[in-house]
Amino acid sequence: MKIENDLILRAARGEETERVPVWVMRQAGRVLSEYRATRAQAGSFKSLLMNPQLAAEVTIQPVDILGVDAAILFSDILVIPEAMGLPYRMDEGKGPSFENTIQSQADVDKLSTEQVLDNLKYVFDAITTIKRDLHNRVPLIGFAGAPWTIFCYMVEGRGSKTFSISRSMLSENPELAHRLLRKITDATIVYLKQQIACGCNMVQLFDSWAGILNKDTYNTFALPYIEEICQAIDTVPMTVFAKGAFFSMEEMGQLPCRTLGIDWHTSPEFARRLAGPDKTLQGNLDPAVLYGSEEFVISETKRMLDRFGSHKYIANLGHGVYPDINHEKLKLFIQTVQAHQFNRS
Ligand code: CP3
Repeated sequence: MKIENDLILRAARGEETERVPVWVMRQAGRVLSEYRATRAQAGSFKSLLMNPQLAAEVTIQPVDILGVDAAILFSDILVIPEAMGLPYRMDEGKGPSFENTIQSQADVDKLSTEQVLDNLKYVFDAITTIKRDLHNRVPLIGFAGAPWTIFCYMVEGRGSKTFSISRSMLSENPELAHRLLRKITDATIVYLKQQIACGCNMVQLFDSWAGILNKDTYNTFALPYIEEICQAIDTVPMTVFAKGAFFSMEEMGQLPCRTLGIDWHTSPEFARRLAGPDKTLQGNLDPAVLYGSEEFVISETKRMLDRFGSHKYIANLGHGVYPDINHEKLKLFIQTVQAHQFNRS
């Protein structure tokens, strides 16, 4: 089952590639009118991701429409708390929310890791359907939220500017925090392993709220669990994207994963110097560049490429694409990467 275009897997493994591969975080989403049409057909975001056939459709749309070098499973990081017993809602324009949150030992004890695979059968069915319909044209990326980010949603119940409840728990009741992080980590390992068993060719951990912590709290409450997940996932390349965690770049360079995702606050030179020569880097165009003119998109993309270099590099944005960006600009970004000639002096 050879994958026709496996550039991204080779770049992740540190091998030489003919050109730099590119995909885009949130490439399956509102930026595409085809996505909005399929979501309308499903009725809601949650019914879309729970419908394997429609989830497969929106996963494959960016490969056909944008020409990206990888597909990413259409799902959400919040399926894990739900599978452990905390259901979430996704209200249009308001983002995700949880009716029940985790505040006590009893709340943590009630969470189950046993039913995760059964409860997430719809995700595995989607992966099987995607693999069938993608015909091995490009690799399929699976993903999960990193334990700290999932912890934030389970404790806070929603997104937040300060994550005060979550961060208080770290200082007020570190034991309880570790207990919850332990459970999330166990569930995440089982979940990612099953994504891989169903056909995902690489996986990414999203630590979206990494930047709210400081170096000490990140190294105590986030990195050890990420390290454990990296160690458990030893059959496919793994990417760790810790948004805002420039302060722990050196420690992330030591993680047993292949690729580090870089946000746009971090310079390519800083990331390379601190992460070391071995890691593949992924990122990091400021998504707001895509609001600019065609000339600006092209020149900023080329500048980014020359700074990262042609080796051990996967081009992407520094975070997910914004829904109000013109998809033609996104396509221009992708085509600019794919056509770029590096100066090999
Ligand atoms: O990247 C992809 O194309 C794959 C699909 C994907 C989604 N969510 C679909 C989605 C992935 C990888 C995610 C990850 C995710 N989900 C993260 C980590 C990445 C990041 O953005 O930092 C987080 C924090 C979530 C939680 C989440 N889901 C939030 C905060 C929101 C609301 C944001 C918004 O733009 O409204 C979602 C909803 C969501 N997940 C949408 C999509 C396409 C938008 C829902 C819609 O169709 O209206």
